[in-house]
Amino acid sequence: MPEPIVLCKDIRKRYGKGEAAVDALRGVSLEVYENELFFIVGPSGSGKTTLISIISTLLAPTSGRCRVLGRDISAMDEREKDRFRLESIGFIFQAFNLLAPLSAAQNAAVPLLIKKMKEKAAIERAEAMLESVDMKRPDALPAHLSGGEQQRVAIARALVNDPKLIICDEPTSNLDSHTGKKVMEILTSLAKREGSSVIVVTHDNRIFEYADRIAHLEDGVITKVEG
Ligand SMILES: Nc1ncnc2c1ncn2[C@@H]1O[C@H](COP(=O)(O)OP(=O)(O)O)[C@@H](O)[C@H]1O
Ligand SMILES: [Mg+2]
Repeated sequence: MPEPIVLCKDIRKRYGKGEAAVDALRGVSLEVYENELFFIVGPSGSGKTTLISIISTLLAPTSGRCRVLGRDISAMDEREKDRFRLESIGFIFQAFNLLAPLSAAQNAAVPLLIKKMKEKAAIERAEAMLESVDMKRPDALPAHLSGGEQQRVAIARALVNDPKLIICDEPTSNLDSHTGKKVMEILTSLAKREGSSVIVVTHDNRIFEYADRIAHLEDGVITKVEG
């Protein structure tokens, strides 16, 4: 059996010190396998954002080990983490975080431009990505797009570097249920790519049916994993 895409062992995270310390994660272990659409659910303050921030190398755990895509992330220096995030992880958020003065295609091209790809090639690749998520208005500005279209641009931007791991924080919370379903169908097909998986943090019980497994996080511990 191949190594899981994500392998976390006894992750702990304490914010602050002394009296004011908050134990946001209190020993979390989990595995996410290739081709899984893996959900993390739990009440506000249970540690969901902390957990995905650690998996995506944005935040160092206080203790515990985490391997992501075959790499020990605690052994990486900041430069390696930056590169790893850019090349290997696609982020999709509740707020679409598009840059207002840039067109849909320019927004989707941003990760390629950061990597110094030539603009023409970057825009072409971004346009192809937009097409793959059925977003048909590459020249429009974000302000002129619906919520569903904006989320497709954000998905195209997350995909443009062909990352193996896609991490989503409440990807459907700002969408109506029809558009939310479309987004989940896209995420399902992304999870099925070779060597890939998708992690979704959500409160949105309308989309639970898409999960391969659901981990329940409460007060910094996983209380059960369904599926
Ligand atoms: N930067 C921080 N500094 C101090 N406490 C934090 C910080 N970020 C999160 N917390 C605390 O850690 C706990 C878990 O937060 P978080 O991971 O954001 O949970 P969730 O995403 O499930 O709402 C909460 O008690 C929160 O107040
Ligand atoms: Mg959160």
